[in-house]
Amino acid sequence: MRILVTGGAGYIGGVFVRAALAAGHEIMVIDNLCTGFEDSLPPEVEFVRADIRETRLLDPLLARADAVVHFAALSIVGDSVADPVGYYRENLGSFLTLLDRIRLHGPHRLIFSSSAAVYGSGEGRPFDEGDPLLPVNPYGGTKLAMEQTLAHVAPALGLNWLALRYFNAAGAVPGHGERHDPETHLIPLALEAALGRRELIVFGRDYDTPDGTCIRDYIHVNDLARAHLAALTALDRGVEGVLNLGTGRGHSVQEVIDSVVRITGRESVIKDGARRTGDPAKLIAAVKKAEECLGWQAQYSDLDEIVASAWEWSRSLYKDRG
Ligand SMILES: NC(=O)c1ccc[n+]([C@@H]2O[C@H](COP(=O)([O-])OP(=O)(O)OC[C@H]3O[C@@H](n4cnc5c(N)ncnc54)[C@H](O)[C@@H]3O)[C@@H](O)[C@H]2O)c1
Repeated sequence: MRILVTGGAGYIGGVFVRAALAAGHEIMVIDNLCTGFEDSLPPEVEFVRADIRETRLLDPLLARADAVVHFAALSIVGDSVADPVGYYRENLGSFLTLLDRIRLHGPHRLIFSSSAAVYGSGEGRPFDEGDPLLPVNPYGGTKLAMEQTLAHVAPALGLNWLALRYFNAAGAVPGHGERHDPETHLIPLALEAALGRRELIVFGRDYDTPDGTCIRDYIHVNDLARAHLAALTALDRGVEGVLNLGTGRGHSVQEVIDSVVRITGRESVIKDGARRTGDPAKLIAAVKKAEECLGWQAQYSDLDEIVASAWEWSRSLYKDRG
């Protein structure tokens, strides 16, 4: 299949690109590099540096594609709170352009990166796809708006689609991992702290969890990439709609910190901070639907394995930067 990957120079998109090439697909990437890196793209990729709203450049790619995998988005929760209009303009606005151009040029397969942020706070049990959708920040709001738009627009466009709600993407593959700036994700932050590059702040130790810190469902990026490949096949079997992608298991902030000490052999400077607004105590995926619909299961079940893969990447990243 010839796949157009939007945001393929980013963290998760870059892992998908590698997995898709290895599976024998042809890959075209469109990315404006606002948070991505051109040097992260394998040489076999056909790369167009452009915003997806640059239709003159987007259209010929769509015309040649058999499927689109849409990763491109802004995804920093704090920034979305500071500039909600900008977030809706970027995420929803560019998505509307993408759908409009798909209407004109095809293709008829689309996979969309959604997020657990569509669920909001919940009651602590694993979220399933039928749970109420009550995002607590504008970032989650943009993802929900995009899901709803897709569901309404797809029938008119003859589009087969899946929206994949990732929980916490984590880990790295050889040569490619997280390079967000600023970084907001716990595992790379804890590893930077282990390297002595920062202190780590734990936002709240008084949650209703066994050790008082928040619990999240960390899914390895390579498992996400495998799920996207399975999703592309599933589209042709008529599978459509929304699916959670997680492991179904949670780990607390303190468990991540303990794992980082085990893997790196280093102690970090750790400070306690206040709770952050809108941080739920527990975010864990119910994954039965994805497992059944995709014939897929997360292979990384061990937190230490995920942290070890991210550690390899962090060390190489900062060795290069000095
Ligand atoms: N990282 C996570 O834990 C997580 C969890 C849930 C959902 N997601 C979603 O997964 C997707 C990928 O996340 P990531 O962590 O790899 O982010 P990332 O910032 O590393 O990658 C996003 C890529 O999209 C590009 N991009 C953004 N807007 C663009 C535009 N208008 N035109 C062209 N390119 C554009 C960026 O340059 C970047 O390369 C996002 O949609 C994000 O919302 C991520």
